[in-house]
Amino acid sequence: MEGVHVVDHPLVQHKLTLMRTDSRSTKGFRQLLNEIGMLLCYEVTRDLPTELVDIETPLQPMKAPMIAGKKLVFAPILRAGVGFLDGMLDLVPSARVAHIGLYRDPETLQAVEYYFKAPSDLADRLTIVMDPMLATANSAVAAIDRLKARGAKDIRFVCLLAAPEGIKRLRDAHPEVTIWTAAVDSHLNDHGYIVPGLGDAGDRMFGTK
Ligand code: PRP
Ligand code: URA
Repeated sequence: MEGVHVVDHPLVQHKLTLMRTDSRSTKGFRQLLNEIGMLLCYEVTRDLPTELVDIETPLQPMKAPMIAGKKLVFAPILRAGVGFLDGMLDLVPSARVAHIGLYRDPETLQAVEYYFKAPSDLADRLTIVMDPMLATANSAVAAIDRLKARGAKDIRFVCLLAAPEGIKRLRDAHPEVTIWTAAVDSHLNDHGYIVPGLGDAGDRMFGTK
């Protein structure tokens, strides 16, 4: 699938299966999302450019690689996207964070914005948008529209589960945004839920069902 990386690492797949399981506790679900966030972060940053810098080891000077350019921006879509954030910040502690507050209207499935706060210099930074679920993609498209309006040019999208319908919609709306996901499921049901999926990610993460 063009523009889509399915992260099929056994650790990711094992943890995803644990998360899908209906009997998983809120605490367990949150912990696993955090752990998978770390593993997905490793994949989405795999091709970041590096530059050689001068350092001194205890034995001699050398040129050694460091990540080049401005600090990354992590952009979780609230609420469930926050579940990825700590794991990603553990790996990239200096990243900036843009919070994007959106909820899906249960009738229309349209994304409704209630909060947006981002660094002012998005144009100079790689922005990684994160949300566990890519269902209709209304939320992802609205988040990316908003980030682009604020100047972001280099954007990647990370999720846990994607529906084929959501992938198509996001790729059609923002063809230059590459997607990383742990799995592509079968389809959306009549309520816009991913099947077989894992249910409502935000509710399972925060115990609000
Ligand atoms: C869920 C999920 C995504 C969105 C995906 O959020 O976390 O943000 O739905 O669906 P879409 O691709 O059809 O837009 P929800 O609106 O339930 O809000 P929450 O995270 O606050 O629970
Ligand atoms: N949002 C969720 O949390 N789960 C779905 O399956 C679809 C949208």
